[in-house]
Amino acid sequence: MDLKQALNLGGWSHRLTKKDSDSESDSDSSSDSSSDSSSDSEAIDVNQEVGELKLPKLPFKSKDLQDILSSDTLDEHMKLHKQYVDHTREMVVGTKLEKMELDDVVKLTARKPESKLFLNAAQAWNHAFYWRSISPPNQDTAPKGDLGNIVNQTFGSIDACREKLIKSASEVFGSGWVWLVQKDGKLSIMTTQGAGTPVQTKGVIPLLCIDLWEHAYYLDYKSDRMSYMDSAVKQLLNWGFADDNWEAKEDW
Ligand SMILES: [Fe+2]
Repeated sequence: MDLKQALNLGGWSHRLTKKDSDSESDSDSSSDSSSDSSSDSEAIDVNQEVGELKLPKLPFKSKDLQDILSSDTLDEHMKLHKQYVDHTREMVVGTKLEKMELDDVVKLTARKPESKLFLNAAQAWNHAFYWRSISPPNQDTAPKGDLGNIVNQTFGSIDACREKLIKSASEVFGSGWVWLVQKDGKLSIMTTQGAGTPVQTKGVIPLLCIDLWEHAYYLDYKSDRMSYMDSAVKQLLNWGFADDNWEAKEDW
């Protein structure tokens, strides 16, 4: 299964290790909001369509991030993600879009970026990507292989890359996202406003992202978004996921 399929699953076979499965099966992010995600971790439908879209399971226990993000933050965040997923599914059922994959719905509706379907579908996709972009603190702290080399060539060092991510995030006004992306074999950082996503832009391959919406951090950091960014960039980013995305070289 390729990365594109993995992101549409509601589960994550891509890089879904045994450790991931163990974490998911007893995730304590088990409020009502995550009822769709709390079932058997083996129940991954590789052909899930947007009409059957489900909330992805967290690939870690919500308490595993507690040094940076509390379980309350993650549980509330998952409730919002579930709303995006539910609203997307409700709007496509019975339409010609029902059998499409999530990223295709995002691309199709991006022509009307204020439409409810685009906003919900893009946010469903962005959040699914975000949960894989972070991991328990200090696990996958740096890129390896080709991506490690290209980070050094592009930014000078991994620390410089981190600082650029933080600075770019600081320049986002209001809600949005910061992304590490590949385009034409080159590495760069981009930001998006609101529900904006790299999926909208042909040829741009997202490698990692961080959610800059207030709901992502407010319970723990109040209005201090930059402290959240500093901690998330330096301790939570899942560079193993970025390595895989870099190697996949797949457009969406
Ligand atoms: Fe969010």
